[in-house]
Amino acid sequence: MTSHCTLTGKIAGVTGAGHGIGRAIAHVLAEAGAKVAVTDVDEAGAQAVAQEIREQGGEALAFPLDVTDQTAATEVVQALVARWGRLDIWCNNAGVSTMNRFVDLTERDWDFNMDINAKGTFLCSQVVVRQMLTQEPDEEGIRGRIINTASMAGKRGNAPFLAHYVASKFAVVGLTQAMAGELAPEGILVNAVCPGYVRTGMQERELRWEAELRGVAVEDVQQLYIADTPLGRLETPEDVARVVLFLASPLANFVTGEAVNVNGGAFME
Ligand SMILES: NC(=O)c1ccc[n+]([C@@H]2O[C@H](COP(=O)([O-])OP(=O)(O)OC[C@H]3O[C@@H](n4cnc5c(N)ncnc54)[C@H](O)[C@@H]3O)[C@@H](O)[C@H]2O)c1
Repeated sequence: MTSHCTLTGKIAGVTGAGHGIGRAIAHVLAEAGAKVAVTDVDEAGAQAVAQEIREQGGEALAFPLDVTDQTAATEVVQALVARWGRLDIWCNNAGVSTMNRFVDLTERDWDFNMDINAKGTFLCSQVVVRQMLTQEPDEEGIRGRIINTASMAGKRGNAPFLAHYVASKFAVVGLTQAMAGELAPEGILVNAVCPGYVRTGMQERELRWEAELRGVAVEDVQQLYIADTPLGRLETPEDVARVVLFLASPLANFVTGEAVNVNGGAFME
């Protein structure tokens, strides 16, 4: 029986891994022993994170990847399978946000959030599933695992100025469940994590936008985020990454279709 989170010999890919939560996921998976494809639309960011992992004794390759480009995703999966032989774990983490009052939202806001957060998750997952279906299952019948970074906003619609982002993240949670059901007989596990208020570049941008929209100081908005979090602090990217590691590991062999809250109690269900 496996009772720990080792990923020795496993092959993983992470999108949006050049910064923030994706960077932490890439590091945590590599520390657990996985070989990691660090992908990002920001190629320099991906290169830097892969280099950090190698300097810490891990194995990582960087790939430029815009998740809305399915041809590019296919090439990345082909390249990493050519190098490492298979693909065990794929983390659809890349995501964007913008903020606006509902009445002022533009079609561009809508398309930008839906294209990267929802459609990008679909496009990359399809490529990954096609690869995983060609692989021999392990001794527990598992061919591969997909872990999506959704959001608290994928379950709680009451998120001011984020209607379009909420819609995109509810889509990610729905896609996670639909894929999990359809792919369970094939031995592919599909889960999501739903972070709360995580200290990243995305949060820094949102703090500024929300402060402007509310007409208050950035620090006041940050205090609102902390006050909304029973554990009393902002979340770190590593808080999220450790739960992704659990879902990527044999400890979660009987977990599929879940969207796991990782939010310090900010939203409970
Ligand atoms: N920060 C939070 O509070 C928070 C909360 C819940 C969920 N999330 C989700 O976590 C994920 C990571 O967010 P983060 O906070 O680390 O943001 P971030 O902005 O710090 O990092 C996002 C990464 O995604 C990359 N990216 C953007 N567009 C891309 C594209 N088209 N293709 C590939 N990569 C692309 C960026 O270059 C960047 O490296 C997102 O899906 C986000 O929606 C964040």
